[in-house]
Amino acid sequence: MPRAVVTAIAAQKGGTGKTALAGSLAAQWGYAGSRTLLVDLDQQANLTFAFGVDPGLLEATVVDVLAPRNAVPAEQAVLERVHGVPGLDLLPCDERAEALDTQLRSETMGVFKLKDALEPLLGEYERVLMDCPPNVGELTVSALLLADEIVCPVKMGDSNALRGISRLTQTVEKLNRRGAHVRFRSLVRVECDPSQVSYRRNGDALKRLARRSKLPLARTELRARAAWRTAITQDVPLILLDAPDRGTREAQADVHRLARELWPRVPFPAPNEIKARRRASGTSFESPAPAKRAA
Ligand SMILES: Nc1ncnc2c1ncn2[C@@H]1O[C@H](COP(=O)(O)OP(=O)(O)OP(=O)(O)O)[C@@H](O)[C@H]1O
Ligand SMILES: [Mg+2]
Repeated sequence: MPRAVVTAIAAQKGGTGKTALAGSLAAQWGYAGSRTLLVDLDQQANLTFAFGVDPGLLEATVVDVLAPRNAVPAEQAVLERVHGVPGLDLLPCDERAEALDTQLRSETMGVFKLKDALEPLLGEYERVLMDCPPNVGELTVSALLLADEIVCPVKMGDSNALRGISRLTQTVEKLNRRGAHVRFRSLVRVECDPSQVSYRRNGDALKRLARRSKLPLARTELRARAAWRTAITQDVPLILLDAPDRGTREAQADVHRLARELWPRVPFPAPNEIKARRRASGTSFESPAPAKRAA
């Protein structure tokens, strides 16, 4: 199998929908029949929780994989077939990741550790998706050094929505001048509500920025829907939520449309098909048992 293509979901800004998008896109990849590895790089471990995993109960996470001594091989920390999604594995994270930026900075070539640790796994997957932390620390840089492409969610209801993008483009340019090979796959408009002033204002500014900086902007917009929040409270990525309401169906249709726009040659199944397959395999989330969150 050829080496996996690595996508970083990054935004150098907090609360832009990175984790929500990473979980749902990864599940789409899994149901498209691609061996997929999802990597949680955020100390909040929201992505790990989103797959029903309590990081406090794990023997090893990405923190142990990057440990200065007695590092655990990445494959030992990987959880297989998370939430029953075929072909989808998760390298979880936990709150000790808070110390990783400082640790990696203190080590020689620390920012290359993630790349070195995951490189042996790349031949086993077709796609790797990484959920990046909301800052420009060593861990985000480590992810960008490994990544082939970036998907950057931009929250349209946020008055400072565009700020993180300029910082991210500057970081990417610097890294690419030093031998990285990462490019923007797409900026993605998230939490879109055309009735909001911020949506219109950000929308215009974002189009100008995208044109000026030659950044691809996805046509598909993720509409503001409460289902995104519901999915988080139920510890399940939105695309796996089995709820009958219109908001959920619309939000799931948006994810599916986005996946097809970003990777047009991949046979991503429609949300209804995913639902049917999950019901048939007994992994449906009509009444999921939420994972216990650490205090
Ligand atoms: N399209 C959407 N419509 C409505 N709410 C959304 C949408 N996308 C994301 N959200 C909500 O935005 C909030 C932040 O999402 P998420 O945790 O994925 O962001 P993040 O960028 O990972 O945050 P952090 O920087 O803290 O890691 C969540 O409550 C999520 O439900
Ligand atoms: Mg997050």
